[in-house]
This record gives sequence, structure tokens and C-alpha cells, in this order.
Amino acid sequence: MFTKYEVIDGFLKPTHFEKLNNLKLKNLKDHEINIYNNKIYKNGKTECTCLEDDFIRELFQNYHEKCFSLLQKFNKNKAALWDYSEFHIIETGSNYKYPIHRDSPFKLLSGVIYISPEISKGTLIYSDKYGKDKKEIQWKPNRGFFFSRNEENSYHSYEGYGKSSRRALVLNLMTNNLEEVCRIENINFQIVKLRELINPYLYRIFKKVI
Ligand SMILES: [Fe+2]
Repeated sequence: MFTKYEVIDGFLKPTHFEKLNNLKLKNLKDHEINIYNNKIYKNGKTECTCLEDDFIRELFQNYHEKCFSLLQKFNKNKAALWDYSEFHIIETGSNYKYPIHRDSPFKLLSGVIYISPEISKGTLIYSDKYGKDKKEIQWKPNRGFFFSRNEENSYHSYEGYGKSSRRALVLNLMTNNLEEVCRIENINFQIVKLRELINPYLYRIFKKVI
């Protein structure tokens, strides 16, 4: 069974939603994905590639409390490890598929807010890494989907809809403290550290992660 999750419709205020919907981004081919990284740290420092500094601060001020309380609800111990937040924009080409995975342990809370187009395919969730009990968190603009990953019950994937690319805001609460996450999840730190190191290469070469 997939871990506890929450679906929240109308997550962003209309002005924020429209601004993200109207962002001018690079053209995307149907088999490509473009990830625009935007981060804000606990100390207020920002690192942005497609959002203005003031705008990520505004997003943080408006939505951090809500996200943090979701994390506290899903996994209280992990909430204490929060170091920074990501507000990435991900554009997925119409024929692009991201494989089944469970997210990096550096992610304490994983969130996605669907932006555009009107009709597309939402995140797919499963009860195991082989794709058992597939379920779609259906696409609806401004719908948010949130969960806190774990080793066994957070397998998911996403893909284009076949007709047009899709845009989403990915809102993650992150930590730098992998060792403590592993302690909380009762998993082997050295193995997980190694896995996190090799996953980007596996993905680049084989389009797979472990
Ligand atoms: Fe993911």
C-alpha cells in the first residue's frame, strides 16, 4: 500500500498559480524533461534558476507553514531535520516517462502542484517497485499531492500525457542530514549513501534508479 498522502485542490492562491502558469520557459521536445531548480534555505538565502528571489520568498511565506504541518503529520521526527525547501518547476514532454522510484531520502516531504495544461496525466502511485496496484492521482490544475517518502511504501512515477507537455511546481522540504534520516527510517546509512551516489549515473545511462 502507498504511504499516507494528501491531495489538496486549489492549493495555490490564484495570483501565484497564474504567475507560474504564465512563466516563459524554454521550448521542450516531446521526449525531454526540463527541471528548473529554485531553493530557499532556512537562513533565507535563495538559489533560483527560473523564479525571481522575491517571488520564491513570497511562495515560501505563503505555503511553508502548510507544508511543514503536513510533514509533522506524516513523520514528526523527520520534521526536525528540515534545512531548506525546493520550489522546482518541472516541464515534462508529452512522451517523456520518469521510472518508478521512491524519492531520495534527502526529501522529507515530497509535493507536486499541477499547473498546466487543463488536461494531462497525474502522478502514478504503486504498492511496490514492480508497479503493483497502480493508481493515478488525477490531474487537475492547482491540485497539490503530498507525501513523506519511505523505503517500502512510496513508489511512484510520472509521465507525459501523449498530447502536450505538462508543467508542475514541485515543492519539497529537504534535509542535508542523510545519516539521521536513515536512523529514523532504520535503514543502513552506508548503503543508502552509496545508492544516492550511483542513482544519477544509473538514471543517465539506463533510465532506471534503485
Ligand atoms: Fe518522485
